[in-house]
Amino acid sequence: MKLNIALLAGDGIGPEVIDQAVKVSDAVAAKFGHEISWTPALTGAAAIDAVGEPYPDETHEICMAADAVLFGAIGLPRFDNDPSAKVRPEQGLLKMRKALGLFANVRPTFTFPSLIDKSPLKRERIEGTDLVFLRELTGGIYFGKRGREDNDNTAYDTCTYTRAEVERLARKGFDMALQRSKKLCCVDKANVLETSRLWRETVQRLEKEYPEVEVSYELVDAVAMRLVQWPNSYDVLITENLFGDILTDEASVISGSMGLMPSASLGEKTSLFEPIHGSYPQAAGKDIANPLATVLSAAMMFETAFGLQDEADAIRAVVNRSLAEGVVTEDLAEGGKAYKTSEVGDWLAKNI
Ligand code: IPM
Ligand code: MN
Repeated sequence: MKLNIALLAGDGIGPEVIDQAVKVSDAVAAKFGHEISWTPALTGAAAIDAVGEPYPDETHEICMAADAVLFGAIGLPRFDNDPSAKVRPEQGLLKMRKALGLFANVRPTFTFPSLIDKSPLKRERIEGTDLVFLRELTGGIYFGKRGREDNDNTAYDTCTYTRAEVERLARKGFDMALQRSKKLCCVDKANVLETSRLWRETVQRLEKEYPEVEVSYELVDAVAMRLVQWPNSYDVLITENLFGDILTDEASVISGSMGLMPSASLGEKTSLFEPIHGSYPQAAGKDIANPLATVLSAAMMFETAFGLQDEADAIRAVVNRSLAEGVVTEDLAEGGKAYKTSEVGDWLAKNI
């Protein structure tokens, strides 16, 4: 099979972790007889510096023409610390999500047997955790009307959802629940917010079409709590954009390191795959960042964008082996030998 992949490395550690995912993907492609054609494109601060725009038209065209997009990370402190900055790397990410119609962000949280004791949570609370968040990604407060009034002394951001936006996300959630343990949790704040009441109402109506799925409705504050008490009690969770942003960061540390969890963003056009972590600028260029979240995002890409299950499984298997054999970056080394980002990538590619 010929795979055309757009490669958006972005900022900070993005290029380093992307390099490892490329090595591993090329190795798995060679093993299974595929040919990958990578097309690099600019995004984030790197794109602002080069062409003044965090998601240039040329990058969009490359993404649209590709079968999948593999994404690193974006964002740099020099933009965060300047409230007056007119263009920000993050705007590129939001523009890209909207332009590619990436309304469903799939963010799994699972544990690795060899890392159970590295988790900030106790073993008995996390063993068996295998949950997945479906975060709505192109609506809500991220894309609502915003502004300033009252001589610049008042600011507002509005959260809006249409029934259609909720329904398409919820349907993906029901479908995913059917393929897993048939449990779906709708996370909202329906005791306060009108948009949440629309979410709940829409999901309740859909329940009739999916009689095998057992649906629960939980308030976001309660979920934030139970997520660290009994993460292994959840399966598929669906939620709006901002709640999903916050809860998935909370969930991402359960496995033992921020640098482990992959994600997929699906929608109307080309799908995109990226690590959950950010651009970790303090580590940029040092060859120390954990590449596994990006490598596992490539596994999700093989599985989801190309239907290549054996290839995805081969990547996951070699990642598990590297963890079991202690071929890990400093975030997981704990006194033992810390491998460089590039050494982990080389090991994975060689052992696949
Ligand atoms: C994420 C990030 C982004 C978001 C930022 C960088 C805009 O935190 O992908 O979760 O809030 O969606
Ligand atoms: Mn986030």
